[in-house]
Amino acid sequence: MKKLIKNANIVREDGVIKGDVLIEEGKISEVGSQIDCPDAEIIDASGKLLLPGAVDVHTHMDLDVGFTRAIDSFYTGTIAAACGGTTTIVDHMAFAHEDVSLMHQVEEYHKLADGNAVIDYGFHGVLQLMNDNKLREMKDIADREGITSWKAYLTYGDNMINDAWMFKILRAANEYGLVIPVHCENDGVVETLKSEYGDAGHTQPVYHPLSRPAGAEAEAVSRLLHLAKLAGEAPAYVVHLSSAEGLAEVEKVRAQGQKHVGVETCTQYLALTDDMYADDVEGLKAIMSPPLRKQHDIDMLWDALSRGGIINTIATDHCPFTFAEQKQLGRDDFRKCPNGAPGVEERLSVVYSEGVAKGRITLPQMVKYLCAEPARMFGLYPKKGVIAKGADADLVILNPDVRRTLTFSDMHTRGDYTCYEGMEVAGRIEKVFANGKIIVEDNKFLGKKGDGKYLKRGTSSLVEG
Ligand code: URP
Ligand code: ZN
Repeated sequence: MKKLIKNANIVREDGVIKGDVLIEEGKISEVGSQIDCPDAEIIDASGKLLLPGAVDVHTHMDLDVGFTRAIDSFYTGTIAAACGGTTTIVDHMAFAHEDVSLMHQVEEYHKLADGNAVIDYGFHGVLQLMNDNKLREMKDIADREGITSWKAYLTYGDNMINDAWMFKILRAANEYGLVIPVHCENDGVVETLKSEYGDAGHTQPVYHPLSRPAGAEAEAVSRLLHLAKLAGEAPAYVVHLSSAEGLAEVEKVRAQGQKHVGVETCTQYLALTDDMYADDVEGLKAIMSPPLRKQHDIDMLWDALSRGGIINTIATDHCPFTFAEQKQLGRDDFRKCPNGAPGVEERLSVVYSEGVAKGRITLPQMVKYLCAEPARMFGLYPKKGVIAKGADADLVILNPDVRRTLTFSDMHTRGDYTCYEGMEVAGRIEKVFANGKIIVEDNKFLGKKGDGKYLKRGTSSLVEG
């Protein structure tokens, strides 16, 4: 049945307009004022914000880290995403346990996600244990599967990509029209500090951020961006930028006009500080890489988001492990704690409240960072990320007038905590539409397992611009 959303404040990157949106066969068929459609179900959105369904381009559903795996499957994790206003994810794959073809993990991820996800999803490929065949395979898989982004890590043991391979990967990406998302931390610094703290018996959570200093991020960001330039201004995308020091390296290349550079930060680096590590027990909840930073870093990241043209996207790095069991693996030594935290469900609420309601960014900027730019960066625009005729009818109705407290008991992740427990937020998600169906109403999930479709993605906007 057709649906007609009336009298909404429709938020787009170019402004907010009052109007109506008509949905037919899962797509937006018209955006305008005073749309008349007698055979449509009417949904009154007077006084509410109508946003494009948010796009989270950094999640880790069901991530296998070798000694345990992230607790959200593609089913439970996408329910959490949907309830938080996210209607599309692009998931980062786990490393394979041995040296296999790049296609191996793609096949594994189809087994995990197909028939389980409740919202549309895509995958970033993962690069490890490189050889020349794998460079060519990136292109073949992009053509076949629409996997047009391939992630590389500048840390993480044997799976780390060294400078020579990073350079070769970037050159290949440039040739093939692909984008390379990169985890930027200096491995030598991190591994040395971890060993030194451990050897000295400093194994509490507070040593996690100390072993991964902001300078280690900044060095790797700078190195990546230099390598991308040397590779002919290859398309490179910095994932989860966390620090003011790392941001300064990005600003340098922005000022120099280096092309094809994308930058992502995450909700947690905009709202939480390293004070969370002070408690030897509770601190385990926030063990993630990169770690949480200082208030100064938060302020500088918001400042960059407010100025625009520096950071492209806000994602989550959603990677939950249970506190009761999985995080306890690090109880006697932070180095044994699985890295990662939940966040897919909290992102829109936190960014709206901390960003828009506090006057740090505007509503159109929020839509740019959570919806349009993520879709553009990863070849999904304008199917996703925008309220426009012809786009998928993925929409969120948000009531801006409600204040509430974030608490785990309202959440849908299979994890057992939220890092934002007790945070007062403005705004409440009332309805979420995915491909024209209402899949969330008043925090109740109404969708169906397997309704999410695999997205063969197109070329990243970074390749062109
Ligand atoms: O701590 C994190 N971020 N865990 C997930 C894997 C990664 O490094 O992105
Ligand atoms: Zn990640």
